[in-house]
Amino acid sequence: MAVPLFDTKAQNLALAPELQAAFARVLASGQFILGAEVQQFERQCAEHLGVKHALGISSGTDAILLALMALGIGPGDEVICPSFTFFATAGCITRTGAKPVFCDVHADNFNLDVADAARRVTPRTKAIMPVHLYGQAADMAAVNELARLHGLKVIEDAAQAVGAAQGGKRVGGFGDFGAFSFFPTKNLGAFGDAGLLTTNDDALAQRATLLRNHGAHPKYYHQFVGGNFRLDAVQAALLGVKLPQLDGYAHRRAANAARYTEHFAKLPGVAAANASNADARLILPYGQPGNGHTWNQYTLRLPGAGRRDALREWLAARQIGTEIYYPVPLHAQVCFASLGQTDADLPVSARLANEVISIPIFPELTMAQQDEVIGAVTEFLAAGR
Ligand SMILES: Cc1ncc(COP(=O)(O)O)c(C=O)c1O
Repeated sequence: MAVPLFDTKAQNLALAPELQAAFARVLASGQFILGAEVQQFERQCAEHLGVKHALGISSGTDAILLALMALGIGPGDEVICPSFTFFATAGCITRTGAKPVFCDVHADNFNLDVADAARRVTPRTKAIMPVHLYGQAADMAAVNELARLHGLKVIEDAAQAVGAAQGGKRVGGFGDFGAFSFFPTKNLGAFGDAGLLTTNDDALAQRATLLRNHGAHPKYYHQFVGGNFRLDAVQAALLGVKLPQLDGYAHRRAANAARYTEHFAKLPGVAAANASNADARLILPYGQPGNGHTWNQYTLRLPGAGRRDALREWLAARQIGTEIYYPVPLHAQVCFASLGQTDADLPVSARLANEVISIPIFPELTMAQQDEVIGAVTEFLAAGR
């Protein structure tokens, strides 16, 4: 049985009548960019996330860039972010003219190592950007304490973690800004590109609102340079149909994660990421106590040269979809070579890039599909691979 890595059709077609009604509403309104649909969705998001302001943005990437621009970050500034993340985190820093400074991550939860970040603070450091990777919150108490000590701004890259919580509070509300992605395979998936920017600061919200539309105020009068970071009405209307389902989706993802963990943990040579695992052949992800993990990804680690790629090929031969998030840590990307950061400087990020593999975890995954994945991974290990 083929098992895709995700199945956007299964999720969206289940809501087809409501989605079609939302589309028809936008069609009839004739208002296609920002407007009442976007405002309504922004209110829904602010309430859901427990933040004061939520701005509909054209993508998660644009939300990060807009946050940096609204904080006035630019040439001469340094921004600390993890090396083990999606490219946009650091790409946006570079686009403002600032310098990304990569810190390492924890092998057990994949999120930034705040003690390592602290060692990289210089007088030029203006901000820190934790990433809530795979749907689990980074240690925000430690990030905010470091930021307080050094007067840094905090931008949460919450692209993968909409709805995730820490200590009962949802991500996006811990820092100066939170940036979210609604890329179709995210936990709240749009029908194209879409994103969100959150803040609890009135002045920052006002500045970001202006910058979202070329910094114009009033129309055609520009005191500063912004961009076109506007959300389409049709995306807002369609996402507004899906948002009430989000906690349910997360619940089903968590149930799928628990079922994987329950089965895999029984196999010889398998250990949890938070247990002693020096000799393990397969290391399982875990949700830290106090974290409401939303399981955007269920990411295994396979230590040993070539073993991760061997599992990927093994699963592909059985038509099981996987992905490597991410095969090259950012410090090793060609475009960041001039920054001069090395594998020796960021050993955990370098190692994880060779070990990680994400397997199907989407909410609509059937038990039969999951059994197929469990069986294939079990056979891989039993074959001594
Ligand atoms: C960690 C992270 N940051 C930023 C982004 C960028 O979001 P988008 O694809 O909506 O621009 C993504 C999404 O792929 C992401 O996973």
